[in-house]
Amino acid sequence: MSTEETLLNLDFDKPNTAITPPDDGVLSLSSSAEDICLVPEVGFEGNVDSPGVNRESQPLLGGRGDLDVSFNHFPDDPQFTELVWQAEVAIDNGIFPERIYQGSSGSYFVKNPGGKIVGVFKPKDEEPYGRLNPKWTKWMHKLCCPCCFGRSCLIPNQGYLSEAGASLVDSKIGLRIVPKTRVVKLVSETFNYLRIDRERSRLKRAITEQFPNLRFNRMGLPPKMGSFQVFVEGYKDADYWLRRFEQEPPSERIMDKFQLQFERLVVLDYIIRNTDRGNDNWLIKYDAPASRGMTDPSEWSGEPEVRIAAIDNGLAFPFKHPDSWRAYPYHWAWLPQAKRPFSQETKQLVLPLLSDMSFVQELCDELHVLFKQDKGFDRGLFERQMSVMRGQLLNLTQALKDGKSPVQLVQMPAVVVERSKGGSTSSRFFDSFQQRFQHKSPFFSWW
Ligand SMILES: Nc1ncnc2c1ncn2[C@@H]1O[C@H](COP(=O)(O)OP(=O)(O)OP(=O)(O)O)[C@@H](O)[C@H]1O
Ligand SMILES: [Mg+2]
Repeated sequence: MSTEETLLNLDFDKPNTAITPPDDGVLSLSSSAEDICLVPEVGFEGNVDSPGVNRESQPLLGGRGDLDVSFNHFPDDPQFTELVWQAEVAIDNGIFPERIYQGSSGSYFVKNPGGKIVGVFKPKDEEPYGRLNPKWTKWMHKLCCPCCFGRSCLIPNQGYLSEAGASLVDSKIGLRIVPKTRVVKLVSETFNYLRIDRERSRLKRAITEQFPNLRFNRMGLPPKMGSFQVFVEGYKDADYWLRRFEQEPPSERIMDKFQLQFERLVVLDYIIRNTDRGNDNWLIKYDAPASRGMTDPSEWSGEPEVRIAAIDNGLAFPFKHPDSWRAYPYHWAWLPQAKRPFSQETKQLVLPLLSDMSFVQELCDELHVLFKQDKGFDRGLFERQMSVMRGQLLNLTQALKDGKSPVQLVQMPAVVVERSKGGSTSSRFFDSFQQRFQHKSPFFSWW
């Protein structure tokens, strides 16, 4: 197919500029910002019933621009693929993601075609210090106080990877407290875009209205990469239930169940070195008997459940330990549950995995695959993130073996476990590691 190049002045203030297509029906517009190419229309109507798992063969997405249809496809997880697909179909049908107003960054509740919230999407470029963060206070903070913005131990603007990384760690260990989170690309007019992106999109739409048989191969607004987390129902902020538990303590059985879930939260946060685990960043679901109008346990149909969901995991995986753990404490350390030594159940779940060198290596390798997709990926910084994580794993393993409690765990000296300089990266099996205390000097070998 031959392509005729036509240079045009794109005047975004006059989107209805008349353009005559060349005879062969194919028109390219070149602008300094972007190549805009018109090709004959290949229509595709999003269909609610379409299974999301078989989309690679579908050539174009209706109004969703140049979204790479294979990007949101997860062969190992058809359920998640289907959920994201439903969200895309909803967007196509005008049911747009809605900004979560209480958040400090651009986070969105994503809906399915029935208008039900199914996910939480956090685009990379709308993170607290991302270039399109919609909250001007954060922008001012960065502008006026550049030396101390953000957390100096974290790689800036990779919160979406931290969200997905937490979910990876959670499913690898089998903790099952993080709602499934993966990196996806979405486009929606309710997202925060640069004015030029919106105007360019408007112009393209105006052109296609004049020439309905022509189509841009880059249509509409640019897709955004970000984390997509499954929305969990029936949960409330931890603060709410913690207070209720103090006023009206549930049965011992429930509190034992809660303890096990709590320990899983501790394990997760400690491994990923979460710097933002306030009691507003985890959720609890509890079917209180009173809320079902029953006070007599014999009336209950089935044992009430208590579950924890660890959300908002975007500020984890530091490349060095915070200067003091008090700077970014784990707020759960002040709860009475943190004083109880780790249970047998938690030890049995976690210890066999974490004491296995090849399991830890696999975990690091999988995080590498996830993290390296960021444009700003830096191998050296990633190695440092893994050194911190290995140090956390070392402390956690030791604490579990010694019968410590979460409070005692967080008091252990921070440690990093670095790959030895001489260690070959190609023959991982023979890798050796060195343990180094962050705030003390001794060096000695670990394995
Ligand atoms: N997966 C989820 N399932 C159910 N509700 C959720 C989920 N994720 C977030 N929420 C709800 O949305 C609120 C805001 O989410 P989140 O804290 O992740 O966003 P944020 O933009 O990072 O906010 P902030 O910066 O204020 O912490 C939460 O307090 C919670 O009520
Ligand atoms: Mg939050």
